[in-house]
Amino acid sequence: MLTQDELKTQVGQAALKYVVPGEIVGVGTGSTVNKFIDALASIKGQIKGAVSSSVASTERLLALGIPVFDANAVDALAVYIDGADEIDGHGYMIKGGGAALTREKIVAALSRQFVCIADESKRVQTLGKFPLPVEVIPMAAQRVARQFAALGGVATLRVKNGQPLVTDNGQHILDVTGLQIADPLAFESKVNQWPGVITVGVFAHQRAQVCLLGTPQGVVTLTY
Ligand code: A5P
Repeated sequence: MLTQDELKTQVGQAALKYVVPGEIVGVGTGSTVNKFIDALASIKGQIKGAVSSSVASTERLLALGIPVFDANAVDALAVYIDGADEIDGHGYMIKGGGAALTREKIVAALSRQFVCIADESKRVQTLGKFPLPVEVIPMAAQRVARQFAALGGVATLRVKNGQPLVTDNGQHILDVTGLQIADPLAFESKVNQWPGVITVGVFAHQRAQVCLLGTPQGVVTLTY
């Protein structure tokens, strides 16, 4: 029986075949992507470099000798490789468990193809069991929390070492439980319009086109 860590290693390595030689690859954030970054180091001579979605991924890429480009230096990327906290049967995802959702959505939007890498525990019927991360401007946090309460959700400010967690962008994260996100496209559009919301962790407009799912039987390729 493979461990969850071994499943992540498998999908991280499987994602290499989506990397286009000679190009810059979009790189996500998280423990599954860390496996991909480690695998990417083995073909670093074949790519120009990466656009990264977080300080943590940037540090890992640079430590392995992979050049990191500013997102503003590229017009488009062929592919973005990233993990997810949940993925449904349409390639819609919840992301942001690692607090990197805003930069992840920016790099995903720059990319022609989103390849999600995940172990099978991330596959769901309906998004919403995983607490939905929402990056907010700190002064809006309580008002946004009340807006979620009106939808039946309970929003909690994410805390680290006894203090509100501060993202790479200097903002805060609300984690929202109790939501059943039946229409991810409409939900994402609605929450995006609430004042003070920087990014909602529903990735429907930036959904995955491919998911490499780690299962005990091997890597299963799902396309949407
Ligand atoms: C980071 O902010 C997230 O969007 C990650 O992609 C997501 O949390 C998956 O992370 P793991 O690969 O660590 O489960």
